[in-house]
Amino acid sequence: MTHWTISVIHGDGIGKEVCAEGVKLMEAVAARCNHTLSFHEYLAGGAAIDETGVPLPDETVAGVLASDALLFGAIGGPKWENQPQHLKPEAGLLKLRKELGAFANLRPALVYDELADASTLKREVVQGTDIMVVRELTGGLYFGEPRGVEGQGASRKGYNTMVYSAEEIERIARVGFQTAMARDKRLCSVDKANVLDVSQLWRDIVIEVSKDFPEVALSHMYVDNCAMQLIRDPKQFDVIVTGNIFGDIISDEASQLTGSIGMLASASVGGPVGFFEPIHGSAPDIAGQGIANPLAMIGSVEMLFRYGLKQNTEADMINAAVRKTLADGLRCGDIMQEGCTKLSTSEMGAAVIERL
Ligand code: IPM
Ligand code: MG
Repeated sequence: MTHWTISVIHGDGIGKEVCAEGVKLMEAVAARCNHTLSFHEYLAGGAAIDETGVPLPDETVAGVLASDALLFGAIGGPKWENQPQHLKPEAGLLKLRKELGAFANLRPALVYDELADASTLKREVVQGTDIMVVRELTGGLYFGEPRGVEGQGASRKGYNTMVYSAEEIERIARVGFQTAMARDKRLCSVDKANVLDVSQLWRDIVIEVSKDFPEVALSHMYVDNCAMQLIRDPKQFDVIVTGNIFGDIISDEASQLTGSIGMLASASVGGPVGFFEPIHGSAPDIAGQGIANPLAMIGSVEMLFRYGLKQNTEADMINAAVRKTLADGLRCGDIMQEGCTKLSTSEMGAAVIERL
């Protein structure tokens, strides 16, 4: 029997609704496997701005750092869109990633056979797709200095800097290779080395690191080609490793192979405490209606057990329950298909727990 302390950040929009299902699932899994959990809630994003004036209070960072893992809902919404950049909800999320040292973001895009028709692409193209995007999360264009907007009138200019040190590239490349070693041993490094200097360094370092992983078949692809190949023939990919901005874009694209962004989980690891969040965001258009798909959150709980608490049995148990739920024809609105039963957020959460 083990005890874990879990931080929970609901955030904004559907974050609260899906987090509730994540917590119920964790409790159910812990009860079945004789673990105990305590949950501590913290503020971030718009909810934190409303209560404290900042998107990431110090108390949140301290609390999360003292816990074993963080379950994160989603942040953002139209209410805070006109805040200055550093006081937007998104700034809180970026700061949290940085403070937690969570430099490696794992985003699996797995097409369940049952949902192969839910994608806008043809079944024969997507069926069998199983990709892991490893996105660098605390560097690159998102954090590079200098950045800003200056000047007046027509000569006003805005700029950001895409910068990676050899050290940053090496550590994310290692996560890419290690991830590939635990899967099909194929790694595709995505860059823009034909144009960007920072990408040429990226490529050189990835090649150096590959010498430590002779069993992994390494390939390189330019990001524009990757965007095309992902929808042309997604099955050619096993693990993709890439920088922050390219990974942001490529992972949204990969999500559509699976039928809905409401299916995609993520893990942000590399620092002392991992954090686990669905990639769908706060979806203000459907917030509060109880119709959001909690499967991305449920997948995030699976990743929390696997990568955060290092409990594969529990993670496998959740995965099997999700497969069973889909096989039984249960769906939320975003993945609804003819002949299936449409469930609300909490009904879907309960259906998965029933099948544990
Ligand atoms: C994501 C999101 C975030 C990002 C936003 C909300 C800051 O799009 O997690 O992919 O750009 O990283
Ligand atoms: Mg994104």
